[in-house]
Amino acid sequence: TRDKMPPVEGDVLVHASASKEGEVIKVSELSEQLIRAWPMGKDKEGNNLIRKGDPNNVLALYRFPKGQIVAPTNLDATVDGEIVAYSDICTHAGCSVSDDDQQEGQMKCPCHSGQYDPKRGCVVVGGPPPRPLAQLPIKQDGDKLVVAGFFLENPYPFTESEWEARKE
Ligand code: FES
Repeated sequence: TRDKMPPVEGDVLVHASASKEGEVIKVSELSEQLIRAWPMGKDKEGNNLIRKGDPNNVLALYRFPKGQIVAPTNLDATVDGEIVAYSDICTHAGCSVSDDDQQEGQMKCPCHSGQYDPKRGCVVVGGPPPRPLAQLPIKQDGDKLVVAGFFLENPYPFTESEWEARKE
């Protein structure tokens, strides 16, 4: 069903945190602190539909000063090299990844201390995760953020064959 579909091109990013859930995220709200997002599309009748039927759809958004986001982040899939979106789902066992309290601008998984660097393509910098967090292409539309394409890598703690099946 549509609420379980992975992010689709054209989806608008809305807050996933309990206090603001469903509010459209404004570009001006973004910072070096993690903001969790859901993709919001449309149902068959054309009404807004948040794709939270699959908890794996939660996303991580950051804005870093120009020049700080570098390869292997795909800069073409960011907004001006400053705003970047990733899957927030740890590739180890699927926990939702948080900011690292000890290291600003880094991410840490609360389950088994997997660490990721969101300025460098969310590569794994510590702990057991087998792969980076997948980057999701985004673009800016006014003060909103919109999904610009499918995940660039496997976003889930799934095997590659499960991922291939999911893409279809
Ligand atoms: Fe994230 Fe294990 S689920 S480190």
